[in-house]
Amino acid sequence: MSGVQSKNTALNNAVNMTFADDVIKGLSLPQKMLPSRYFYDAEGSRLFEDITQLPEYYLTRIETEILRAHSRDITKDVAAESVLVEFGSGSSLKTELLLNTLPMLSAYVSVDVSNAALQEAADRLARHFPDLVVRPVLGDFWQPLSFPPDIAKHPRIGFFPGSTIGNFTHNEAAKLLTKFASHLSLGGRLIIGVDMKKDVQTLLNAYDDSAGVTAEFNLNLLTHINRELGGLFELAKFRHKVVYNADEGRIEMHLLSLVDQNVSVCGHDFSFVKGETIHTENSYKYSIDQFQTLARSAGWHPHAVWTDELHQFSIHELRLNTISHTNQL
Ligand code: SAH
Ligand code: AVI
Repeated sequence: MSGVQSKNTALNNAVNMTFADDVIKGLSLPQKMLPSRYFYDAEGSRLFEDITQLPEYYLTRIETEILRAHSRDITKDVAAESVLVEFGSGSSLKTELLLNTLPMLSAYVSVDVSNAALQEAADRLARHFPDLVVRPVLGDFWQPLSFPPDIAKHPRIGFFPGSTIGNFTHNEAAKLLTKFASHLSLGGRLIIGVDMKKDVQTLLNAYDDSAGVTAEFNLNLLTHINRELGGLFELAKFRHKVVYNADEGRIEMHLLSLVDQNVSVCGHDFSFVKGETIHTENSYKYSIDQFQTLARSAGWHPHAVWTDELHQFSIHELRLNTISHTNQL
């Protein structure tokens, strides 16, 4: 991963090659699919922020309420001079709630694939927390993360809010949590927001809002492909579709082809029959037990969990048993 300021042509070309490869591979599958990380160009990040304000999208509202009510407890024994590392930090708005109750940090490291979101958040944090050292990292949280030498030896506390973990299958989620365990081995704790199972209509409404913002967010993925990869998707020929897959315990977002059509992307032709979909996102919902079992399978120990009264959303504290951290034999 590279520092946010070191954006250059070579990096952008490499990023676009991965984007092109992922799109060609995904659209060649029998069930066409696209990785959800490509939602987040500047417009996608802006649309996601609009989603967080929708009455139907309870996730952000409730996670924020939980953080407001419990941030003191959540951060109570964090060592001074720790580094807060946030994965998929987006607007870093919820982060401010933690920053208010954390002891002096040596730095806040925000990791995101969206340059626009990283920059905007870093500028706002500099105004709200003038003493905080902010180190934005433009990159994919699946990739190795190297820390600048001045903060490399400080204890780390990970933050992964928003239920972004839900955007991965159980297998992928376990792999990602294992990866985070290696990023956070020094310090050994992770605060992670996880959306919970609930009645299906509430879930469907959250992902198919009446103002059509989520539809716009979903369709913007095609605009992103058209712009960056010279794709020729006609947005009017696709429609946002949401289903709850009860067997998998996940919301699925799709883009449904309204007609038989061929679409060219990067010199490849993809044919769609009317009614066929591109699967663009999964959002898994977890019971507390189910998530704790997943965390254990990735080497983490569930330490605490906070929820709202109606058990709609959960915030878990996970820890690693690191001898160096606890100073125990
Ligand atoms: N944490 C924020 C934003 C959640 S939206 C919140 O809770 O509101 C998901 C964020 O993860 C977006 O900002 C997106 O750009 C980022 N993201 C998605 N996939 C990513 C990846 N593979 N690596 C880094 N960031 C990623
Ligand atoms: C970022 N992620 C957890 C969101 C979610 O709820 O799965 C993205 C999103 N997709 C549609 N609405 C919001």
